[in-house]
Amino acid sequence: MNHPTPGGAAPLERVPLYGEDFAADPHAVYDRLRTYGVCAPVELAPGVGATLVTSYRVALRVLHDTETFSKDPRVWQHTVPQDSEILPMLSWRPNALFNDGEVHARLRHALTDCVALIEPYDLRQLVHQAADELIQNFGERGQADLISEYARVLPLLIFNGLFGLPPSHSTRLVTAMARMFESESDEAAKGIQELQDYILEAVTTKQDRPGNDFTTWLLDHPEGLTAEEVVWQLLLSLSAGHEPVTNLIGNALARMLSDSRYYRTISSGALTSHHAITEVLWEDPPMANYSAHYPRRDVDLEGTWVRAGTPVLISYAAANTDPTGRRDGPRSDAGAHLSFGAGPHACPMQQPGLLIAVTAIDRLTNWLCDIRLSVPYEQLIWRPGPFHRALAALPASFTPISPDQKGSTPWNASPSSSTPAAWTSPARQPASGRPARPSGSSSPETSGHGPSPGTT
Ligand code: HEM
Repeated sequence: MNHPTPGGAAPLERVPLYGEDFAADPHAVYDRLRTYGVCAPVELAPGVGATLVTSYRVALRVLHDTETFSKDPRVWQHTVPQDSEILPMLSWRPNALFNDGEVHARLRHALTDCVALIEPYDLRQLVHQAADELIQNFGERGQADLISEYARVLPLLIFNGLFGLPPSHSTRLVTAMARMFESESDEAAKGIQELQDYILEAVTTKQDRPGNDFTTWLLDHPEGLTAEEVVWQLLLSLSAGHEPVTNLIGNALARMLSDSRYYRTISSGALTSHHAITEVLWEDPPMANYSAHYPRRDVDLEGTWVRAGTPVLISYAAANTDPTGRRDGPRSDAGAHLSFGAGPHACPMQQPGLLIAVTAIDRLTNWLCDIRLSVPYEQLIWRPGPFHRALAALPASFTPISPDQKGSTPWNASPSSSTPAAWTSPARQPASGRPARPSGSSSPETSGHGPSPGTT
């Protein structure tokens, strides 16, 4: 159905947010959408319409207005073909994201309290271990796809540690999530089942043997969540956290490795990973369009009638770059970007999420200090889809490093003694002799590129 206009003017044509054209140049599409006004009619998938807010000011209004807008999609989702590829992102579940009012407040209270218990120092150590493990897998090769071999896997190793499971369990999580990405629906369904089994096992394990971890903290929280509620909040944390952290790392690395202002950082210190991440959050948010809301009654969004119960999504990417909505950014005084959402459902994991991304990027660029893109930035392929801004691959090359080199490599970085036992990898055999670095490359400690990964 086309988008109604106030006063009965001709319905507006819906703009598709799927397909390769949108993925290749989303900002051209946002420019076109702005010509419709503060919001525009879009298609999330063939035949599935929504309203997309592109104005910064109106985005804030929708995100904060819980009287007019609900997060509960249950009435709408029954109107969508049940095999639609967008339903996994939008259909209702008993978690914080898809509920309003007291139900939401209770679940969110438990989540935010548990997030506050994550020690930044421990989290940084966990990222170092995950990064080192992954770099060891491809360091000798001199080339890697930084999405499939690094940015997509690293957050899963970290979740596995945060949930209090031993490293051996992370393979199950990585396999399940990879299956969920398969286009074959049988494989994807198998992945979902494996993921549910994995989380269920985490919860039953922690009921029997509590630990100092996110799962136990949720089970013990004074809000008294049932085991089933804990399962749903862990599934939410995984699904809400994995994609944006992957994309934040990938999009920031792509900028750093293709822009001489960052390239100089690695050799002579100009812009840092913090800058790259800030730029990405303003201009290429990891989640480009999300925060689905459903009006409780027909509503006039400054000239566009939106029917009760139909989805209104926020374009963080368009709102952040709204020419009328922000001062000259990205700068610290340019107001807040909306890439973590805003209002009662704003991301509760902003600080840990940023810490994971910065640490993962710094660890990689410290070990592989001459890393560079294998193809020009303009030739990188972006994954189609209405919600994310995600690279399909990020091929990079670097001087190979190997366990028997002199100098520092991820093979001889030792886990911090303060890292909980469950978060550390099984003991590795020490490399024989002192590893050597290749001639012509310097060790991270001696190159003057910042602190050694082994000591930060
Ligand atoms: C670092 C990159 C991240 C970005 C850009 C990001 C972005 C967002 C956004 C835009 C929302 C609002 C969704 C909405 O309004 O519908 C959100 C909510 C949420 N995020 Fe994140 N997120 C990130 C990392 C994480 C991580 C690592 C976790 C968990 C481990 C997480 C857990 C959540 C949860 C549980 C919510 C729902 C909160 C609620 O409904 O009250 N996020 N995130």
